[in-house]
Amino acid sequence: MERDAKGKRDKTSARKVVRIRPGTKSVVLGVTGSIAAYKSAELTSLLVKQGHEVFVVMTQDATEFISPLTLQTLSKNPVTTSFYDEKENWRPGHIELADRANLLLIAPATAHVIAELAHGLSGHPLTAIALATRAPILLAPAMNGKMWGHGATQENAEKLKARGVEFIGPEEGMLACGYEGIGRLWKVNDIAFRAEFLLARQDNLIA
Ligand SMILES: Cc1cc2nc3c(=O)[nH]c(=O)nc-3n(C[C@H](O)[C@H](O)[C@H](O)COP(=O)(O)O)c2cc1C
Repeated sequence: MERDAKGKRDKTSARKVVRIRPGTKSVVLGVTGSIAAYKSAELTSLLVKQGHEVFVVMTQDATEFISPLTLQTLSKNPVTTSFYDEKENWRPGHIELADRANLLLIAPATAHVIAELAHGLSGHPLTAIALATRAPILLAPAMNGKMWGHGATQENAEKLKARGVEFIGPEEGMLACGYEGIGRLWKVNDIAFRAEFLLARQDNLIA
């Protein structure tokens, strides 16, 4: 039985919050082909500064917007861009990352990847990891406002939310496509803060 600060037995606490040793967590950061992909560099730095191991997984289109070398340097880890990157390990790299992840964060998330995730497609490592991992998934969409507002995208987002996927954003503002409206990537500081919350939550277990 538990004792309180004065050494008396606490007969009431049937349950207690146990904080297991907070340690380094593994964040798989998915980057997709949005104009906002350059912001993933700052996000990577923030997550590393928060003390986490960051493993960046990029779609082929994302590599048109930001170089894997930039994200490799900032994350201090190899960047996955293809199923065939992993040559040395007998275990497929995407399964290794799916098992290792404490959080799968996709920022920015395009309309395309949101559709792929909603339909359970696994044509590239990022979507395969999303299927294989049991870690929480946080998506930060970024796209043209009409793309975000389209029934197809909204249905896909609802489908994912119903499966427990969390969304952060998008926010309103001036969009790179020239329009003003909802579709901007959420502020990277706030994305990193939300990621931290989801990771810290894993240290608090109800015993
Ligand atoms: C300059 C430019 C900017 C783009 N920005 C976005 C964007 O912010 N959001 C989005 O959903 N698609 C955007 N696209 C379209 C995507 O790159 C395209 O749908 C691509 O197939 C996404 O692939 P991925 O989801 O595999 O990365 C943009 C395309 C170009 C050429």
